[in-house]
Order: sequence, then C-alpha cells, then structure tokens
Amino acid sequence: MSDLVTVTDEGPVRVLRMNRPEKKNALTLAMYDAMAGAIESAAEHPALLCLLIAGGPQAFCAGNDIGDFVQMASQGGALGQPIMRFLHALARNEVPMVAAVRGDAVGVGTTMLMHCDHVVAASDARFSTPFVGLGLLPEAASSLLAPRLMGHARAFSLLVMGRPMDAEEAKAAGLVNTIAAPEAVDAEAMQAARAIAALPPQGVRTARRLMRGSVEAVVARIDQEAALFKQRLQSGEARAAFEAFLTRKR
Ligand code: COA
Repeated sequence: MSDLVTVTDEGPVRVLRMNRPEKKNALTLAMYDAMAGAIESAAEHPALLCLLIAGGPQAFCAGNDIGDFVQMASQGGALGQPIMRFLHALARNEVPMVAAVRGDAVGVGTTMLMHCDHVVAASDARFSTPFVGLGLLPEAASSLLAPRLMGHARAFSLLVMGRPMDAEEAKAAGLVNTIAAPEAVDAEAMQAARAIAALPPQGVRTARRLMRGSVEAVVARIDQEAALFKQRLQSGEARAAFEAFLTRKR
C-alpha cells in the first residue's frame, strides 16, 4: 500500500486518508489502487462497520492527477485500471461511508462524495467539477447521481457549467450533511462514523441497500461514462486544457 494513502482501523471505523498534501491530494493510480483495496477489503472484516474518507487541511482532493491524464491520453485514452477499480469499489461497497472534507474537493474529489452516506464539510470547503471546461465529461456515475441528489438545474450548474459550490450551497444541494469549523471536521466526521457503527449493522446495511437502489445501474453508468471519457481524453480540447494547467504561471 502506498503511504500517499494511509489506512487505519480505529475500532469499527476504517479511516482512509489521502496524503499527498504538496499536490493537494491529486490522485495517482497508486492512490486509487490503495483506496480501492481498502474499500474492497473492509467487506472481509465484519468488525468494520463504517468507512471514513478524509484528506488534509488544505485540500480534500484536487481530482485526478492531470499529468496522469496526459499519459492516459497518449496511451489511447482509457482510464487506468486502478481508476475503474476504485469507481467500481465505490459503487459496490456495502459498508456505510462518511467523508470529512476540508478545503478543495475537485473532480473525483467531489463526485466520490455522491457515493457517501454522510458528509461533514468545513466552512471553507469548496466543491467543483470542472470536467466540461477541461474538455472532459462527468464520471463516477455523477451524471446519474448528481441530478438524483440535487435536481437537474443544480447538477447542470455543477457538472456542466463547472460552477463551484461552497459548503452552504453543497449542504442546500444535499451533498453535505453538516458544516463544521475546519479544525473540528475530522472529529465531527469520526463521531458520525461511530454513531453509524453503533447501530444494528444488518439494519444499517439493509436500509442502505434499499435506499441506494440498483448497484448495477450505477456500475453501468460508470462504464458508459468511462467509454465516452476515453474519447474526450484524447480530444484537442482536453490536451489544450491539461497543457494550460501544467504550464500555468503563478
Ligand atoms: N493534478 C496534478 N497536479 C495538481 C493537481 C492535479 N489535479 N491539482 C493540484 N496540483 C498541483 C499543482 O500543480 C501544484 O504543484 P506545484 O507546486 O508542483 O506547482 C500543487 O499541486 C499545488 O497546487 P496549487 O494550484 O498551487 O494550489 P492552490 O491552492 O492554488 O489551488 C486547486 C488548489 C485544487 C484549486 C488547484 O490546484 C486546481 O485547480 N487543481 C486542478 C484541479 C483539477 O482540474 N482536477 C481535475 C478535475 S477533472
């Protein structure tokens, strides 16, 4: 496992922490693999009753590593296998999932939250999915889950227009449950995770399964998005946007 993601079991709660602060927790293929493995293997430990995904104080996650996108584009455009593994793990996971979000949540940093059951956000959290502006498309089944969660208009503003949401807007949109002071987010998220873990586990899982509906529909949308994403990744628009980010002057 990569130390760019730390996985620690604290009683019934498994904490997955993205740990690449110098790159704002932009996700590399190794990080996707580590996160997928931690989610998949949680199912094999009946004592683990909740997952908690967290980042750092500056950023929850800045999305996919853009350098990796460039590499994938030059190799035919398919999303790397670790990315697909992670997205499928999110969709198929049956352990309740809590997230603690501080700072920026960009791209998959926001769309992974749509697979979570309870999101605690810092008052300074900022959610954005600049896919279309980057020449790309929404992923992680967000094209299915976001309109379901927040209605078409807000989902369009977020996913297509690329307009960011602050913590209050994300709460009003149903993406976030609780807003906390930045330094209190991790503790508040852990408290929620422990509260979920203290409930009758079979009841939680059954209720969650009923509420989430068809897993296969979510997996199918992930695959459909990925096929279209592959085409977009090789587009001139995407290449130009990646180049602009990687060579920007600050
Ligand atoms: N891929 C690769 N590197 C990234 C990255 C990403 N997705 N996001 C941030 N980084 C890197 C920056 O290039 C920078 O590296 P450097 O110090 O070697 O130059 C470092 O992380 C810090 O980022 P910086 O932009 O200086 O931080 P910031 O606080 O000013 O802005 C963000 C934070 C997240 C708003 C900004 O980095 C950003 O927009 N990142 C791209 C997000 C994105 O488009 N993701 C893909 C979505 S599909």
